[in-house]
Amino acid sequence: MHPAIQPGHTAVITGAASGLGLAAAHHLARAGLRLCLADVSESGLAAARDGLIASGIAAADVVTRVTDVADPAHLTALADLAYAQFGAVHVLMNNAGIQPGSSIFDAEGRWDRILGVNLFGVVHGSQIFVPRMIASGQPGLIINTGSKQGITTPPGDPAYNLSKAGVKVFTESLQHHLRGLPDAKVEAKLFIPGFVFTALTAHGRSERPAGAWTPEETVDFLFQSVARGDFYILCPDNEVTRRIDEKRILWAAGDIAENRPPLSRWHGDYGDAFATWLKD
Ligand SMILES: NC(=O)c1ccc[n+]([C@@H]2O[C@H](COP(=O)([O-])OP(=O)(O)OC[C@H]3O[C@@H](n4cnc5c(N)ncnc54)[C@H](O)[C@@H]3O)[C@@H](O)[C@H]2O)c1
Repeated sequence: MHPAIQPGHTAVITGAASGLGLAAAHHLARAGLRLCLADVSESGLAAARDGLIASGIAAADVVTRVTDVADPAHLTALADLAYAQFGAVHVLMNNAGIQPGSSIFDAEGRWDRILGVNLFGVVHGSQIFVPRMIASGQPGLIINTGSKQGITTPPGDPAYNLSKAGVKVFTESLQHHLRGLPDAKVEAKLFIPGFVFTALTAHGRSERPAGAWTPEETVDFLFQSVARGDFYILCPDNEVTRRIDEKRILWAAGDIAENRPPLSRWHGDYGDAFATWLKD
């Protein structure tokens, strides 16, 4: 396993009250880590803490703080709490995210919030925690939650795509910086979930669609990939294999290299060519 993931170490997780963040909290608790959990939902955090304690984690080993990751002052207060409580941070999972929907001219007025939470929550979370993690001299792991929508950028939700494309670019730059540090013991990973059945994707459904993975399956895949040393943690689901993702990503990059129109995968003139490419 990664040297940051050791019994007695500390993990900070944002968006920890639900879905992937909550599943990661349970996974890391089973690995013996102490937890500092952040979310905008106070009741969600209380329920998450109760669930963790019921599953066996000591009450003293899990603290929570209501945090809006779009507000850097909240993230600073979260870091102060984690260091005051546990003395060090070894795993930072910048995971909080929203997907309320968006349109290109922002008639709904959501772009600032989507970028504030999904992108600047990750940027500021990293900028506030990582220098302290480096200064501690201890092993560290940063997991930033991106999305396939930030790589292939399908039409329909441009602000979400932009936020997740930003998470990809930021995390690549962060890892490039970290690996150049002398005696680097802190590294960053880009977590790219597939279709996961959570509050974000439920849209009123109570049953998991056949194509979706559970948060627990996805988080197991995340930590297996971390143990393998992967940077890009590209998760499959029950509909999309790694091979399909690879082809979609290569096609998207090919729009530039082949001088096609943007988002040509969804352009009528290129639909057949894309379908043929996918089959080959
Ligand atoms: N579910 C999927 O299929 C999927 C796919 C790709 C990426 N993701 C990403 O995974 C991450 C986790 O999403 P999830 O699917 O577990 O959804 P979820 O809605 O179950 O969990 C997200 C959590 O983030 C919290 N949150 C929202 N805004 C916040 C803020 N401003 N500050 C702090 N916490 C906040 C929510 O209260 C919630 O508890 C998100 O970044 C999402 O974009 C999810």
